[in-house]
Amino acid sequence: MKILVTGGLGFIGSHTVLELLANGHEVLIADNLSNSKIEVLDKIENISGQKPKFFQIDVTEKAPTQEIFAKEKIEGLIHFAGLKAVGESVEIPLKYYYNNLLSTINLAELCLQYGVGKFVFSSSATVYGEQPSPFREEMPLLPTTNPYGETKAMSERILTDAARVNRGFNVILLRYFNPIGAHPSGLIGEDPNGIPNNLMPYVARVASGKLPFLSIFGDDYETSDGTGVRDYIHVVDLAQGHVKAIESEKTGLNIYNLGTGQGTSVLELVNAFIAANKIDVPYKIVERRPGDIAISFADASKAKAELGWQTKLDLIDMVKSSWNFEKRQKSEVH
Ligand code: NAD
Ligand code: UFG
Repeated sequence: MKILVTGGLGFIGSHTVLELLANGHEVLIADNLSNSKIEVLDKIENISGQKPKFFQIDVTEKAPTQEIFAKEKIEGLIHFAGLKAVGESVEIPLKYYYNNLLSTINLAELCLQYGVGKFVFSSSATVYGEQPSPFREEMPLLPTTNPYGETKAMSERILTDAARVNRGFNVILLRYFNPIGAHPSGLIGEDPNGIPNNLMPYVARVASGKLPFLSIFGDDYETSDGTGVRDYIHVVDLAQGHVKAIESEKTGLNIYNLGTGQGTSVLELVNAFIAANKIDVPYKIVERRPGDIAISFADASKAKAELGWQTKLDLIDMVKSSWNFEKRQKSEVH
């Protein structure tokens, strides 16, 4: 298939591009580089031996996006492009609503106009809000605590409504749990600008000495060791889930959790990182972070049954590959 990947130079997008190429698909990438670097394109070429066509455009802008649809016979779209920093979304909500909603509306309209029948959307477990885990796809969506989460719930609604009235417009909403890890080559991974918000990149930077210690946000949750529990998923497994989704023959609207189905606490993750990589990660227990829930993990059985997808990589693979990537970042800096 000829597939347009928006946000294809970002963390999850770049790994997905590699998996699509490995499965024989033709890939086009649209990315405005607001949270990624053009060098990732060369790294994709280094690893795969193929260089996807790249368009440096903002997908909230109709004209340049339409040009791609008009010129290329796109058969499927995977829409990763979006802003994703939860804290920042509280500070600058309009930027988040503008970017994340307009991009989705624009791309959906263009798919309808040009007869692109497959739309895969990056949603998030955050849409489940605070309900008991495991989260199942048919659970109601609860209000999230931040504008970022709202943009995901609203985008889901927009695409659901569009799929309902347009036969042949087949939408798959993928609700990701907590993607971590990196490509086995160590060439691509998660490389956030500034101080990371998320646990794994923060741990990796503490291990490399770029940050002095990790703050663990609370040890008084009702979990086995009191720290928050999440469903960490290797980004390569997550990327393969997208290949299954875009290749799926399912019609209409379909929703899948992409997670392992296993919960891991913050302390378990940190201790796995320390043990597997034989490197210290100093940490302090601090106050809870506002907006965090105690436990989030998936019921991942629907994706297995309907897409034939399940995770293959474990927590050790995740922490080792994250560290492998971080070490290379360090050596590139020096
Ligand atoms: P990322 O920031 O690494 O990748 C997003 C990419 O989109 C970046 O390369 C950025 O430059 C690009 N982009 C942003 N706005 C754009 C626009 N208007 N036009 C063109 N390009 C634009 O993020 P990621 O972690 O790879 O996440 C990908 C998607 O998955 C996002 O939609 C995110 O909200 C969603 N998601 C991520 C997580 C996570 O924990 N990483 C969890 C759930 C959902
Ligand atoms: N945590 C710390 N210290 C840190 C960072 C995080 O203790 O420095 C803890 C958090 O309190 C939480 C766990 O580590 O218990 C995971 O936190 P992350 O920030 O890595 O991830 P979240 O589960 O909060 O959120 C992530 C993404 C969201 C996405 C959600 C579900 O940031 O965008 O996963 O997919 F919606």
